[in-house]
Amino acid sequence: MSIILFVDDAKQIREQYAYDIERKTNHQVVTAEQGKEALRMLSDEPVDLMILDLEMPEMSGMEVLEKLSRDGSLPVPVIVYTGKGDFRKAVRAVKLGAYNFFDKGEVQLDQLVQEINNALEQHRLSRENQDLRRATGKDSPLVGNSRVMQELQNQITKVARVPSNVVITGESGTGKELVAREIHRLSTRADEAFVAVNCAALPENLVESELFGYEKGAFSGADKTTKGKFEVADGGTLLLDEVGEMPISVQAKLLRVLQENKVTRLGGEAREIEINVRVIGASNSDLNHAMEEDRFREDLYYRICTHVIEVPPLRDRIEDIGPLTMHFVQRTCEEFGIPEKSVHDDTIQVLRDYSWNRNNVRELQNIVERMIIQCEGEVLLPEHVPAGIRESGKIPEDYSGKSYQELKYEAERRILLNALEDHDWHITNTAKDLEISNHSNLLKMMRRLDIERPEDS
Ligand SMILES: Nc1ncnc2c1ncn2[C@@H]1O[C@H](COP(=O)(O)OP(=O)(O)OP(=O)(O)O)[C@@H](O)[C@H]1O
Ligand SMILES: [Mg+2]
Repeated sequence: MSIILFVDDAKQIREQYAYDIERKTNHQVVTAEQGKEALRMLSDEPVDLMILDLEMPEMSGMEVLEKLSRDGSLPVPVIVYTGKGDFRKAVRAVKLGAYNFFDKGEVQLDQLVQEINNALEQHRLSRENQDLRRATGKDSPLVGNSRVMQELQNQITKVARVPSNVVITGESGTGKELVAREIHRLSTRADEAFVAVNCAALPENLVESELFGYEKGAFSGADKTTKGKFEVADGGTLLLDEVGEMPISVQAKLLRVLQENKVTRLGGEAREIEINVRVIGASNSDLNHAMEEDRFREDLYYRICTHVIEVPPLRDRIEDIGPLTMHFVQRTCEEFGIPEKSVHDDTIQVLRDYSWNRNNVRELQNIVERMIIQCEGEVLLPEHVPAGIRESGKIPEDYSGKSYQELKYEAERRILLNALEDHDWHITNTAKDLEISNHSNLLKMMRRLDIERPEDS
């Protein structure tokens, strides 16, 4: 059974349709006599479909659609009707996302019932599809299809299904926050809040009030009772960014909150507030190291590190530089409100040749922005790549701490990856191009350099 909202200012029509539809279907019909009331019912009541009169005084049906429509889609299927055969209006309504329209004078009841059932069925299918895509990570915001990224995506999907706490580690700018958001999006908490707190950005005394909240008058300046991030994230996910930097005194309190699922606001010690929050910690340094130096509590470590997800640095996924660059070009052009530029293959090559020793995805994103500002034409050329990056070329700029063998491994790996990509992973053609005697030698080299063919090539 579904609930249908029927909106018409004429009482007699409303009641007649409500009666007829209930008689012919097993749906329940609720009614509204004006636009504002319809909007309120849509937000407060579990309505599955709306039938809407376009001609009403005060707020017309069209205005209702305009208020509800986001990029041509509506929260529930809507069937509109006009009493005056105004075709232009009906077309406009469909553009706003209406499922279909009819003319009051012409429609047969059976026809209307059929439309209702079709609209409900289509809506159900599209929702199922969305859930499926969510569950399989198909519209993941994480760009990149390299082997390491596929592995990361798998881990995210697995961890998202279970309620336990997680720690995400990885160098600065690798995408840790994005991974945390993705875990949240794929979890059963997706419709609740995702809240992030940076533990390193706050002075010690503020971390506590920020996380746990405070009552009015708890300290000087506390002029009104304020919820902490734990309360704000109730039902959802709380990301504790740079969790390794959390003051040791606050760590003890955090541990208690995680054990008891209760918080007390500063100055409100008499009252415990129950919360249900999944905590994700992120850190760009090794928490083990912090633990050895007594900067991080061991018991807290075991509480939150049920799962550890490591986000690989960009230099371990050079294959992703092409797709990431395209993604950032598209996003930046959109943000700047300019037509989308294309990227010359040589430009991607220059970016891949850069030694991504200390820099990661965020740096690539900044480079793309700078390139777009430099480029007046439609195509991003190598000359638009910032000079420092273009010229650093294939030679690693940072030898420190690396042996000759390691540098050689990196260089060989990069050469092979580039050539394979150029030949769409065609082994024989790549071997020929690099003048490697035969394809089995190339396969051996790939094994030695830990290169695996991406799944979709
Ligand atoms: N795989 C990816 N696909 C698309 N965008 C990405 C990807 N990884 C990172 N980004 C983008 O790069 C930027 C940096 O990512 P994010 O803030 O998640 O990194 P971080 O590891 O949390 O960095 P920090 O350690 O500095 O806090 C963001 O704008 C993010 O959207
Ligand atoms: Mg971050």
